[in-house]
Amino acid sequence: MESPFKADILKGKVGLITGGGSGIGFEISTQLGKHGASIAIMGRRKHVLQAAVSALQSLGIHAVGFEGDVRKQEDAKRVIESTFKHFGHIDILVNAAAGNFLVPAEDLSTNGFRTVMDIDSVGTFTMCREALEYLKKGGRGRNSQSGGSILNISATLHYTASWYQIHVSAAKAAVDSITRNLALEWGTDYDIRVNGIAPGPIANTPGLSKLAPDEITIKAREHLPLYKIGDKWDIAMSAIYLVSDAGKFVNGTTLVVDGGHWLSHHRRLPKEEVKQLSRVVEKRSREKPVGVPSSKL
Ligand code: HXC
Repeated sequence: MESPFKADILKGKVGLITGGGSGIGFEISTQLGKHGASIAIMGRRKHVLQAAVSALQSLGIHAVGFEGDVRKQEDAKRVIESTFKHFGHIDILVNAAAGNFLVPAEDLSTNGFRTVMDIDSVGTFTMCREALEYLKKGGRGRNSQSGGSILNISATLHYTASWYQIHVSAAKAAVDSITRNLALEWGTDYDIRVNGIAPGPIANTPGLSKLAPDEITIKAREHLPLYKIGDKWDIAMSAIYLVSDAGKFVNGTTLVVDGGHWLSHHRRLPKEEVKQLSRVVEKRSREKPVGVPSSKL
């Protein structure tokens, strides 16, 4: 689909995207690049990074890749410094790196829980903290009067409760909290906007293939009337809105982009049945004399 945004809306900006080599992170990298930004992507797997950078470059996007693990503070520091050295400034940080697997809580080890917290929550905080001196108003390399922008990729799992996702629910709840707290502190002190996106099920992503493999989704679709699958494009367009001047007054928000999926409940009665039943119940309630409640006092 064609973008509704002007092709130069991010011209001159530099974006660093963790987990930018695959899935939603790669689509965000692509679309930020197509809208004028230069792109640095950070990831753990060299071959994934190389393939992603080549794909971005083939679209005419100025792109580089830096190997690193967001769980390691020294990697975060090095990648942010390398991005600055390469481009001369950093305007946008997107935290898209995440880890996940389905597991019943009773089978999850403390280390398994901690691993996802470390990638999603601690990693997000570490990247934000290390990028602060470059993103803040008047910070290193900034030639604009405003601060930069941070975007944290979250989820909707923790809005209610999610089967076999205790670790990710806890981690994404922390991410949303980081988004709000940094929006308050860094929005006030440094003119940095901090927002998030909570994607629903998105086609062709590692998240969907890990959390809802075909064996599960075929059944789920029967039971969830609102069940629809989004595209990576949906997330990337929301990302452009939030990190560009289009969203200049948006700060501290996590935008749910899920087609209403998290609101879904199994429909217990078909619509026509409810209409019939409702008429019968209404008629009955009008026919019945209204009882005066008796009081024992
Ligand atoms: C139970 C598991 C497990 C599983 C790992 N562990 N997989 N426990 N069931 N399927 C446990 C291990 O036993 C170990 O604990 C601990 O977790 C660390 O595992 P490692 O394999 O050593 O970790 P590592 O190699 O660092 O890999 C991290 C990872 C892996 C998260 C486990 O899956 C990964 O690298 N993922 C990145 C890519 C990814 O998942 N992308 C999808 C993101 S989708 P013990 O106690 O044995 O030492 C996404 C969507 C979010 O985030 C929301 C959607 C709605």
